[in-house]
Amino acid sequence: MDKRLANFGVSTDAPATDPRPYALGYSTRELQRLALQGALIRDFTQDVLRRAGIQPGMRVLDIGCGVGDVSLLAGEMVGPRGMVLGVDRSPEAIDIAERRATEAGQCYWTRFAAEDLDAFACDEIFDAMIGRLVLMYLPDPSATLRRLAGHVRPGGIVAFQELAMPLTRSFPEGPLFSRCVGWISDTIERAGFEVDMGSRLPMTFAAAGLPAPQMISAGLAGSGPASPLYNYISETLRSLLPVAERLGIATAEEIGIDTLAERLCREAVEQRACVMTPPFVGAWTNIPSW
Ligand SMILES: C[S@@+](CC[C@H](N)C(=O)[O-])C[C@H]1O[C@@H](n2cnc3c(N)ncnc32)[C@H](O)[C@@H]1O
Repeated sequence: MDKRLANFGVSTDAPATDPRPYALGYSTRELQRLALQGALIRDFTQDVLRRAGIQPGMRVLDIGCGVGDVSLLAGEMVGPRGMVLGVDRSPEAIDIAERRATEAGQCYWTRFAAEDLDAFACDEIFDAMIGRLVLMYLPDPSATLRRLAGHVRPGGIVAFQELAMPLTRSFPEGPLFSRCVGWISDTIERAGFEVDMGSRLPMTFAAAGLPAPQMISAGLAGSGPASPLYNYISETLRSLLPVAERLGIATAEEIGIDTLAERLCREAVEQRACVMTPPFVGAWTNIPSW
């Protein structure tokens, strides 16, 4: 057991069980992409956490925390009288998250653990369990939710934000944009992950024994040469490229990754297009008090 986690009573003795390689990988570039994504959708996530009732002084568990964007956001909301524990199986991501917490002056109350969620156990009781873009990668998300909800007090909060990828679009439809969306979605799906987790949140909560959630959905839209979305799409595909090639979905030559953002931009500008990300669907509920 990692001695740094002794204060949280974390135990990680059980073996990890998910044999599927994580589709996006853990390259330096992917970890940078996570932070870029975190900045782009920060306000959406903050809105979900605020609506869910995250408040100063709360103790929060952030599962699948990556490089810590959601944990740090929650850390700002709960403040030094509260506590956040971010858990992710990538030690590289956790190292970055810890550095960012120090830089943000939050390291005393926003802490991290490099553990697989299947193996994670902890004798802490939290006021809330939260996560973003993580349930889509779990082999049995409702089983994980059910198990980890045991670490949340009665009346405590469960709040997640996930993608509804089939709703991605651009108007007018751009051929290159559509190919990118197809490559991304096929790669994630054929690698064994859930591309429509956002839409499945109510049934996933129900199967975990949680009450029906309240929900909200928000997406990014962009147009013109200055939109960050071309780079966001291109970097997402760059992270997925090794798996896309392995699955025979697309080759590096077909995708032309180093010029992709520029070509997506040119297509959108020429068409005066409105490019839209998939909705980031938020859902939150409370653990029954009886
Ligand atoms: C798309 S990233 C999202 C990261 C972060 N929640 C955010 O929104 O910035 C998904 C994260 O889930 C983590 N993850 C997936 N399955 C996991 C598991 N079984 N145990 C721990 N972490 C897991 C990955 O390592 C990755 O960092």
